[in-house]
Amino acid sequence: MVDVLLGLQWGDEGKGKIVDYFAPRYDIIARFQGGPNAGHTLYINGQKVVLHQIPSGIFHENKLNLIGSGVVLDAVTLKKEYDKVTAFGIDGKKNLYVSERTQLILPTHRALDKASEISKGNEKIGSTLKGIGPAYMDKTGRNGLRVGDLLDKNFTTQYIKLRMKHQRMLDSFGFNDDISEWEEEFFEAIEFLKSLKIVNGEYFINEKIREGKKILAEGAQGSMLDVDFGTFPFVTSSNTISAGVCTGLGIAPQKIREVIGVTKAYCTRVGSGPFPTELHDETGERLRKIGNEFGATTGRPRRCGWIDLVALDFACMINGVTQVVMTKADVLDAFDELSVCTSYKVDGKEQRTVPYQMNKVDIDPQYKSFEGWKTDITRMKTKDELPQPMKEYISFINKYLGVDVSYISNGPEREQIIKA
Ligand code: GDP
Ligand code: IMO
Ligand code: MG
Repeated sequence: MVDVLLGLQWGDEGKGKIVDYFAPRYDIIARFQGGPNAGHTLYINGQKVVLHQIPSGIFHENKLNLIGSGVVLDAVTLKKEYDKVTAFGIDGKKNLYVSERTQLILPTHRALDKASEISKGNEKIGSTLKGIGPAYMDKTGRNGLRVGDLLDKNFTTQYIKLRMKHQRMLDSFGFNDDISEWEEEFFEAIEFLKSLKIVNGEYFINEKIREGKKILAEGAQGSMLDVDFGTFPFVTSSNTISAGVCTGLGIAPQKIREVIGVTKAYCTRVGSGPFPTELHDETGERLRKIGNEFGATTGRPRRCGWIDLVALDFACMINGVTQVVMTKADVLDAFDELSVCTSYKVDGKEQRTVPYQMNKVDIDPQYKSFEGWKTDITRMKTKDELPQPMKEYISFINKYLGVDVSYISNGPEREQIIKA
């Protein structure tokens, strides 16, 4: 049995914290897509840890963590992260598995990412520059190298061949940054990677399913960043939605039970691209300040705005969301009034659907106002304690989406969560 936990917005919904909270209920936590563009924040004994490649179940003893086939893996980031986790007294090698089909991010992928972004001028994607796009392009272009290739005696030859091809591409961009330092780090890190448990991910996971083990598939990024259904071209390069679990782990759709969608009580986006409910005023600034909305991977300020139910409803539809977890509800504690986007006005006409190309049309978001709860909810433990205006805010969202909020996160710490 597989449950999926994924982001319903433009990423950074708080997936890491929620996976860490749910991990005790599962046997295996598996990442199925994305790469070190992800930054998943956890608090372990009050200490902040940001994970980019390792699944967020790693701090739980006896839980297995799989980096699945659909992931793109930067060995250098993985090695650094492994050292960080080890400093917490975790024996990473015991519980960390890597699928042999997982694609490798090479130093030249990072260089190509940078060169490509520079070439876009003012149409930049706002990429994290971790080499994600070029690594996935090599996968679909049938050029890339995979974790399993590390064990092949011809690995270096294959690497050099691909590097030469990348060099020609970099030359055409006029990009001539020196990447020799990255390469040195890369070759050191792949030696480390070889020392991990490299497995056939699809047999590994399906055998565990047959044994009756419970698996939590951990999404990265968010549904609106999905390469097919997000705000293309301002998206990432993988399928971030529930369908990506099947291709990213090699499991059949009927093995999936719950699809847990995570949303903030408001909305953020980092990088370029459409964001209809973005606030360019003091309220947006206040959300950023109270919510500490700065990227976990790049430190960039996140764009902030009200919750967008049109986009959320779309995300629930394409993912088949069965329950919603609402995070950062505490960030709204001090606001007198809250707004919820209930429709878009496009060319004067109101609609409740996401336009094909959000960036090409003028969207005027229509809002419904709610009274703020003006109460500190951060120490609350049960739903009965929650203020009435907050119950009304959530009840409206439940009705609009046709899916209920099952948990409300009221602070960054592991224990700050309330069953709705
Ligand atoms: P992810 O990428 O979806 O895992 O999310 P990030 O870790 O990038 O960003 C979420 C941020 O919000 C992190 O700094 C978390 O520590 C923090 N966070 C998560 N849940 C809550 C919450 O309920 N309240 C508050 N105040 N912060 C939260
Ligand atoms: P987590 O898992 C938020 C955004 C980037 C950029 C676009 C493409 O922490 O939620 P890429 O590096 O993939 O080429 O960037 O996607 N992006 C994210 N935004 N959270 C993430 O991950 C993101 N991963 C990528 O900012 O706009
Ligand atoms: Mg993040």
